[in-house]
Amino acid sequence: MSLRPLPGTTDRKVDALLTLLADNAMIVISGAKIANEIGVSRSTVWRWIETLRALGVKVKGHPRTGYQMERVPDVLAPKLLQRGLRQSVFGRRIYHFFKTDSTNAVAFRLGCEGEPHGTVVVAEEQTAGRGRARRVWHSEKTSGIYLTALLRPPMPPQQAPLLTMAAGLAARDAVAEMTGLLPDLRWPNDLLIGGKKAGGILTEMHAEPDRVHFVIVGIGLNVNHTRMPDELSEIATSLRIETGKTFSRVDLVARLLRHLESYYNRFVAEGPEPILNRFCGVSSYAHGKRVKIATARESFVGTTAGLEPSGLLRVTRDDGQTAIVVSGDVAEER
Ligand code: BTN
Repeated sequence: MSLRPLPGTTDRKVDALLTLLADNAMIVISGAKIANEIGVSRSTVWRWIETLRALGVKVKGHPRTGYQMERVPDVLAPKLLQRGLRQSVFGRRIYHFFKTDSTNAVAFRLGCEGEPHGTVVVAEEQTAGRGRARRVWHSEKTSGIYLTALLRPPMPPQQAPLLTMAAGLAARDAVAEMTGLLPDLRWPNDLLIGGKKAGGILTEMHAEPDRVHFVIVGIGLNVNHTRMPDELSEIATSLRIETGKTFSRVDLVARLLRHLESYYNRFVAEGPEPILNRFCGVSSYAHGKRVKIATARESFVGTTAGLEPSGLLRVTRDDGQTAIVVSGDVAEER
């Protein structure tokens, strides 16, 4: 089944151009050769090269001399991502945008149109990136990872929070492997480094009371941002700010999706235990953390007391009663 012709998705020939340049990094290739190999005119090659440059891809040269990549491009183009996802369900159908409103919005529409399990939507920039509780997700061009995976899990809707946790764990594992940092996970969806937010997950669902049609798991990660906007700098950070290094987003996405697939497969085969155990093992928020909980109905202070089998958070309130948090903001209470 071929990909749907969605308005705004990256032309497959731009994908081919990037792959050609990546495979010949440091070598000068003539505009005529590129044009011939990907089946477009030389002026189209030039136009696309200009577009890539505007995105920060370092291409030297011009139509007369030929073109040369200064390094392998870090664009989340399907063909480049698929190299790290050869055996993975997430490598089969990847929709790439240079710019879109929200990868969750696109994936939700695709889910309604019957796209299969494993479809991935990824963007270099979002103009209306959304976070939980109708917040905006800062989606700076080519600095971060903005991706959504479409899942069709054989499970009741009540277990959906476990998929958010699986995605958080997958992002944490990928970040740990690549950076050596050990991010914390704040229930249910925040990836924290040094107490500041470096990533978040927004899970949305299309379901009946007893059956999930599809779930979309949107993942945002702050990767190569050199600074966060003033209004976020106290509470948000990026991998680059924390380490002083830049990271390949292509490599990070491939690792993240491989981990997500592995958590997902274990969940389907063995149930929630592996995800719950791992989350409790790596999150300082699962047990014994003093927290302030703000839900749509109320705010209260208490101490976290583990997770329900469905992934909901147990909190022992200061009056001794146990609350089960279904959704809401969790903040450390100092
Ligand atoms: C949060 O922490 O509030 C969740 C943030 C989720 C952001 C990601 S970026 C990719 C996907 N598309 C969106 O519009 N949102 C999610």
